[in-house]
Amino acid sequence: MLSQYLYISTAPTLSRDEVDAILATSARNNPAREITGLLLYNGRNFLQLIEGEEEALVALMLRITEDPRHSGITLLDRRAIEERSCPDWAMKRVLIAESIASRREMLERELPEGIAPEVRKMIVNFAVLN
Ligand SMILES: Cc1cc2nc3c(=O)[nH]c(=O)nc-3n(C[C@H](O)[C@H](O)[C@H](O)COP(=O)(O)O)c2cc1C
Repeated sequence: MLSQYLYISTAPTLSRDEVDAILATSARNNPAREITGLLLYNGRNFLQLIEGEEEALVALMLRITEDPRHSGITLLDRRAIEERSCPDWAMKRVLIAESIASRREMLERELPEGIAPEVRKMIVNFAVLN
């Protein structure tokens, strides 16, 4: 059964290289585990969507929860899905525009169409904060 998890967490200010390292690890590990998803970082918080087989996601969530680079992992949504929203992305970094005014528009463009409306809304709300 395919599942999708959406969580947020808190991190101290991480450099671009540090976030890139997380993405590189994800790109290395996720394909073999058939995990796909997207990651946003706003300088203080992560929001990550991961999707795949339930067992693989539970194992990944355990590793992510133990990762000292962030804390306060809070699950926002967990659902069974028929199809992946991000089939082509081992882990896509979705950038948050500098200008608050253009964030919504940019996300509407960047987020994949298949994301459920409620999930999309949580991602957009996260990105327009602060
Ligand atoms: C916000 C965040 C998201 C992460 N996402 C993933 C991921 O999608 N896949 C992954 O393998 N590791 C991810 N990690 C890293 C894991 O916590 C862990 O460091 C890594 O899986 C260990 O893999 P390695 O033994 O191959 O180095 C993430 C870490 C953080 C802080």
